[in-house]
Amino acid sequence: MTASAPHSILPSLTVDEERHSEAATALIRSRWAAAGGWLSFADFMELALYAPGLGYYSAGAVKLGAGGDFVTAPEVSDLFSRCVARQCADVLAETGGEILELGAGTGRMACTVLESLAELGVLPERYAILEVSADLADRQRARVAALPAELRERVVWLDQFPGKLIRGVILANEVLDALPVQRFVVRDGVARELGVGLVDGGFVWQESPTEVVDVAAAELGLPDGYVSEVCPRVEPWIAGVGQCLERGALLLFDYGLPRAHYYHSQRVDGTLRCYFKQRAHDDPFINIGVQDITAWVDFTRVADAGLAAGLEVAGFATQAAFLLGTGIEAMTAEAPDVASRARLAGEARRLLMPGEMGEAFKVMALSRGLDMPLRGFAHQDLRGSL
Ligand SMILES: C[S@@+](CC[C@H](N)C(=O)[O-])C[C@H]1O[C@@H](n2cnc3c(N)ncnc32)[C@H](O)[C@@H]1O
Repeated sequence: MTASAPHSILPSLTVDEERHSEAATALIRSRWAAAGGWLSFADFMELALYAPGLGYYSAGAVKLGAGGDFVTAPEVSDLFSRCVARQCADVLAETGGEILELGAGTGRMACTVLESLAELGVLPERYAILEVSADLADRQRARVAALPAELRERVVWLDQFPGKLIRGVILANEVLDALPVQRFVVRDGVARELGVGLVDGGFVWQESPTEVVDVAAAELGLPDGYVSEVCPRVEPWIAGVGQCLERGALLLFDYGLPRAHYYHSQRVDGTLRCYFKQRAHDDPFINIGVQDITAWVDFTRVADAGLAAGLEVAGFATQAAFLLGTGIEAMTAEAPDVASRARLAGEARRLLMPGEMGEAFKVMALSRGLDMPLRGFAHQDLRGSL
């Protein structure tokens, strides 16, 4: 996570990006007009990220990795996916069955998890990937094609939640933060929706005189003028995922907080962030269709959605605690030579340090029919904070 960059130091768009962004902006402008001159920010974010052929995730930007806009934990180091594989191996040994990964990015985690499970001797019957981005699914296919036949033949791509119940593990790294959010501003104890208006051809924030969002602003003691986000897509998404799980665990990795910290009275500008060429900033109305837009995850909402879907909250910890519990230190120490030990130690620091990804990122396990300790949560139990 980087600090917010002012517009002046953001890299400029290439000619192709400029053209793409103009087309995406024109589409949103027409939806804005059709909606009567005010658009919910959730609808804006949905279009900017997922409009067919034009949204950031639907179109061809590089997106992830050093040459893209942002770097995720599986892209920082395979240590992350090897630790995830350790946790998957325990669950698969108990339940049998398969792995389903939601939003698999470049496919790097899928490949490393399969390779590690082969070493551990606990291969899943299949590794299914549900990916909404056709462009990323193509990149996943290319990467999976390089795996040995015994592994690549287990990988399948789904275009909707599986029709049958599955046993095993469902994985989602940095997917919840990509679900469209509503934005609000508090006025007299009421959370009024902040949507999208248009002034001089440019999008601006515009408060709705009528729409309110589902946040108990008064109960949370939020002061007047307080701005933040809420993600009503969490419930249907968790319900949809939960319905697929007969027995096993859903592991959710993302940056986020329990509700009391998420809506802390000092976090007055919310958590919305945009990523463009490794720079973070807070203006979703520029670079439309060529930059990522995200918001932090309210993990209390996720836990409640899990309970409502009949799942148990089996664990909640920081990413650092999860990786320590799944053996990242031993993996680093076991590297065969000094040079690779030093490289892995550097990567592990990035994944573990509080100022890097170790504390802001959390891991939540939601489970069904699973009566076993999960090693990723043996070092820390933050469920009391939810
Ligand atoms: C920030 S990227 C993370 C990618 C990858 N998991 C990683 O960690 O590198 C978000 C991913 O979620 C996918 N995605 C977004 N909404 C989704 C949904 N409703 N269901 C499944 N995947 C989704 C995106 O296409 C993308 O692959």
